[in-house]
This record gives sequence, structure tokens and C-alpha cells, in this order.
Amino acid sequence: MKHETQVELLNTVLAALETGRDAPIISEPVEVPVSRYLDQGVFDREMDTLFRDYPLVAGHASQVREPGSYILSPWDRFPYVVVRDKEGLLRAFLNVCRHRGAPIVSGKEEKLAAFICPYHGWTYNLDGSLRAMTRPFNFPGMECKDFGLHELPVAEHFGMVWVHPTPGAKMDVPAYLGEAISTDLEHFNIGGLARHRKTQVVKDANWKLLFKTYLDRYHVPTMHKNTLLEYYRDAVNAHTLHGPHIRTTAGLVSLPKAREVDPSKWNILNYASMLYTLFPSTLFIVHTNLVSINTFHPIAPDKTLWTHEMLYRPEEFEGEANQEILAKRFANIDWVFGNEDFGIAEKCQRNLAYGGNKTHVLGLEEGLLAVFQQSIDRITGVPAKKVIPLAVAQ
Ligand code: FES
Ligand SMILES: [Fe+2]
Repeated sequence: MKHETQVELLNTVLAALETGRDAPIISEPVEVPVSRYLDQGVFDREMDTLFRDYPLVAGHASQVREPGSYILSPWDRFPYVVVRDKEGLLRAFLNVCRHRGAPIVSGKEEKLAAFICPYHGWTYNLDGSLRAMTRPFNFPGMECKDFGLHELPVAEHFGMVWVHPTPGAKMDVPAYLGEAISTDLEHFNIGGLARHRKTQVVKDANWKLLFKTYLDRYHVPTMHKNTLLEYYRDAVNAHTLHGPHIRTTAGLVSLPKAREVDPSKWNILNYASMLYTLFPSTLFIVHTNLVSINTFHPIAPDKTLWTHEMLYRPEEFEGEANQEILAKRFANIDWVFGNEDFGIAEKCQRNLAYGGNKTHVLGLEEGLLAVFQQSIDRITGVPAKKVIPLAVAQ
């Protein structure tokens, strides 16, 4: 992140600290119909648009450095495999055999020398070409060259591997993220981090109910009074909008100390955590020595696979004792998200299904939720009342 941006964001969040309120995002309360979280038709539209037309984060670049190393999708609705092929090229394919659709990689393989389908044994090279059909006399007139795996766009940017869900789609990750977020992510040197742990859990709530807990400053003093509030001073934030993406600067308890330091010496991560909501369903949380990546993979209107991965600066967690500290940090963060945030989201989902409330009311401090929902409504084409964000679009 450019230093001038750090100064600008810290000044904004320090101003919020003065007033005890974030700069407003919306000027009046907004109602969101609860059908957004319940309706199968809405869900299907989201799957056909949001989850077909945008790059997704597959994993950390360190996972696919060696030929044969691979990343497998955790999500049945988008079954991809990313692999480093024998020539050193990064490739991605649908994990779907061209014969009758079986998965060609199970995840148990340590490394891949080829893709061998467990059903009838068709074998593919790591470049996706079909090497051989078993008992080929079964397929007279058919040639291997016409039955390569479906290839997907894949690229490495900002230390992460990105994959596009649609074969043949054009993928330009820096253009998709925009200049400001690309510059920030470049600066954090995520490629130089090490992987600590990744968990995946199915939650009984709509993916947006889960994701919106990260956009909601309003709940922090109540729900997290015994957990996050210890770290996030008065829960003051600054937000900027970048197309459908959102950048949030979340003031830490150390924030007032910034006033005692000359701004030319500021490192924003000493005073705030940076949150990047990457549309549609990934959140990067950047701390001084950790990055936490959360992604929501919709399964059904009321069911979502949540993945949580933590990366860390290896030089700051050397030795067994430091690794234990790291493990505790991960467990704490994972617990807060998984139990406090998503626990209440699951309960809301159950209550919404009963049918008492027709809408969710969003107050001024929940403005980001309204803006995020509006981006979704615009892209899915689900009719909605217009929200005019007050936040700076950059
Ligand atoms: S489904 Fe793969 S070889 Fe038959
Ligand atoms: Fe929360």
C-alpha cells in the first residue's frame, strides 16, 4: 500500500475515533427482502452470474511451485484442479473426466504424475491432453486428441493462485481488483508468507448472511464484547469502495498511538487491520504478521462451505513456541468467526425461514451491507430499490 494511502486511511479512521462513528456509507436505513437469503431462484441467479463470471482465489502460490503439485477445489459446485505441469506451466482444469464425468483427482495424491480416472482408467497428461483410453476398441472412430480435459483460465497474482470458473473466459485479475486494491496487495508481499492452516466447515446459513458479518461494524461492541473488542478500539473503521470490492481500515487498540508518531513514519498495520472484501465472496484480513483468507462457497440457499486459511510471516514465528502462539491465534480467530459470527447467522437463517420478518432493516452503521447487496442485485438482475452510497468510490 502506498504510504500516502496509509496516511489518508489512518487520518480517516482517526477522525472516526474522535466522533466515535464511522463516516456514513448511506444516508437512511435500507430494507433488504429476506427472500435474498431463502429463495431458490435468487440462489440460482447468483450461481449463474456471481459464481461464473469472476475470478476466485484457489490458494497460495507456494502450493503449486513443483511440477505435479496441485490445488483441489473444496467445493463440489465448482470442481477444479490447478496443477503445475511437467514444463512448469500453471494449468487449471475441471476435475471432470471426459468419459462419464468422474473426478480425476481425489485429493489423496501427494503429487500428480498424470491424471488417472478411477472409474474406467482413462489417463490424461498434466497438460490436460488425453494420453490413453483403456480398451480403446470400445470407442471406434474416436480420437484422444478430441477428449482433453476442459481447461480453465488460471494465473498467479499477489502471491495467490486465481482461477476462473468458466472455460474460455478472459481473466485479468489486476483489472478485476482495480488499481488501489492491486497496489495494496502487491505491497503486502503475500507470496513471501508461509501457510499455517486451512479449515473448511459447512454452515447452515446463506452465504451472504455469513459474509455480511464481516461488513457489519454495528454488531462488534455487542457480539464481540468479550473477544474482538479487546483488539479493535471502539470498532471504528474507514471504508472505500472499488467497484464491487470494499476496502476497510479497522482501527486497533493501538490506533491513538499513531497521533504520537510523525505520519511520515506511519505503517498502517501497526494501528489498524486491513480488510479486503473481494467480490463476490472472499475476504482478506491483513495484520502486521498474518493474513487470514475467508471464502464462502454456496451449496444451497441455507447452506455454505466456509474456508478459512491463515498465512504468516515465517521470520516472525520461528521455533516451536512461536508456532504454538500462531496455532492459538488461528484457533481464537477461527472460533470467533465460526461460533460468534456464524453461530448467530445460522440462528437468523432459521428464524427467517419461519416467515415473521419480510425484510432486514439495515441502519446507517450497516451501510456496507446495503452497498454489497446492491452490487449483487445489480449483477444478478434481481429487482431492488436503489441505494446511493455516500462512501468515496475510488
Ligand atoms: S468416467 Fe473416467 S474413465 Fe470413465
Ligand atoms: Fe463479527
